[in-house]
Amino acid sequence: MFDILFQGGKVVTAEGVFEADVAVTGEKIACIGKIDASAASKVVDVTGKLVLPGAIDAHTHLAMPFGGTVSADDYKAGTRAAVCGGVTTVFDYVMQKKYGDKVDGIMESVEKRMAMCAPVAASDYAFHVAITNLDDGRLLSEFPVAAEAGITSFKCFMVYRRENMMIDDGNILTVLEEAKKAGILVNVHAENCDVIDAKVAQFKREGKLSPWYHYLSRPEFVEEEADRRAIYWAEYTGAPLYIVHLANAGGVEVVREAKARGVKIYAETCPQYLEFTSDVYKREDGRNFVCSPPMKGEASREALWKAISDGFIDTVATDHCPFMQAEKDWGKEDFTKIPNGCAGIENLYPYMLDAAGKGKITYERAVELCATNPARIFGCTRKGAIAVGKDADIVVYDPEKDFTISVANMHSDYDHTIWEGKHLHGYPVQTWLRGKLVYDNGEYVGSYGEGKFVKRAKHL
Ligand code: URP
Ligand code: ZN
Ligand code: ZN
Repeated sequence: MFDILFQGGKVVTAEGVFEADVAVTGEKIACIGKIDASAASKVVDVTGKLVLPGAIDAHTHLAMPFGGTVSADDYKAGTRAAVCGGVTTVFDYVMQKKYGDKVDGIMESVEKRMAMCAPVAASDYAFHVAITNLDDGRLLSEFPVAAEAGITSFKCFMVYRRENMMIDDGNILTVLEEAKKAGILVNVHAENCDVIDAKVAQFKREGKLSPWYHYLSRPEFVEEEADRRAIYWAEYTGAPLYIVHLANAGGVEVVREAKARGVKIYAETCPQYLEFTSDVYKREDGRNFVCSPPMKGEASREALWKAISDGFIDTVATDHCPFMQAEKDWGKEDFTKIPNGCAGIENLYPYMLDAAGKGKITYERAVELCATNPARIFGCTRKGAIAVGKDADIVVYDPEKDFTISVANMHSDYDHTIWEGKHLHGYPVQTWLRGKLVYDNGEYVGSYGEGKFVKRAKHL
């Protein structure tokens, strides 16, 4: 006897869309096919609906200290909002903290965040660790320890010197070499920090401080140039590389060329770069859109969509890092005072599925970008697909439901969203986390703390 039967829907995988019932036993998908209702204790009628794997948001910053404050969604709010948008696994960036000369170890950093997340998590969760300092090489011995513990991805920021998050090029090269040996994939935030800092200083001198100058302080090439540098290092070391939040047409070209040369490189973009252009920085509320990289020009937006269709972009994730309106307002008169980041965790899957409904991409591609590829790239072996033996992370999606995003119908703690007023055709109606209903027609119905740590496979 199965525990739950999703009957009458269409299953979407990265490979196809087909009519099938899905049976769940305990936390796992047990059977897919034509299944009689009498074979299950509970039947969920999903006639007219799509049955999708839970999405994986591979890029979030929950409770992250940044720009003199902490991002507005903590682990409780962020993971709650995640499941309400069909995301069943959240990757958070653990920041390795520096205190003057002292620095937290890698596992020490993870343990501190795990202690914050585990008691309240509403979704499953995993961590990337942002390496900011190797403590003269002493922390290299922790790489294999982290990999054994299931932390199989790190991050290097090529920017944010002022915020103490940046790591220099030489140390990135060392991280790549040692990470490869340990089976760890390195993510990079690639922009040229020196160029940005010089432009920011110039605009300050000139009194050009509106949000538009946030965009102009990061000329489109700063991303492409840094992508190119990071790819050189990946080629030299033979280490795989994952470029986060690709936002620029030149960067897309660099990735395309590198992939054609056989470099083991993955590229992620985010819904905000697919939806908005730099024009948002001319708006009265332009400060609310300040994130890094900034939204780019229309040519970049189009290039990203094309790369998605052509298969050169591997994942879409959110870079969810919201701040409260009062904090964004610190930069009303000076863009350098605006904490960088925007909301998105609850909008990822609905946005990409709406694009599929409109024929911009296929449903299969939306599932591949938001669930199957992040699971494969980051070693979540039990996640990312509707397949027998996988975790029963299931989203029931109504392709005909109309939904208008508003801060009032989101499940986060923030008080404004860049997605306000965005109309979607199609919306998730239920989210199941390992066989348990956690989101039902607008309501979070799970229990905090039931989200589990996802111990990941090494990247080999
Ligand atoms: O503006 C952003 N993206 N804030 C979060 C930190 C980062 O760069 O990923
Ligand atoms: Zn970043
Ligand atoms: Zn980020």
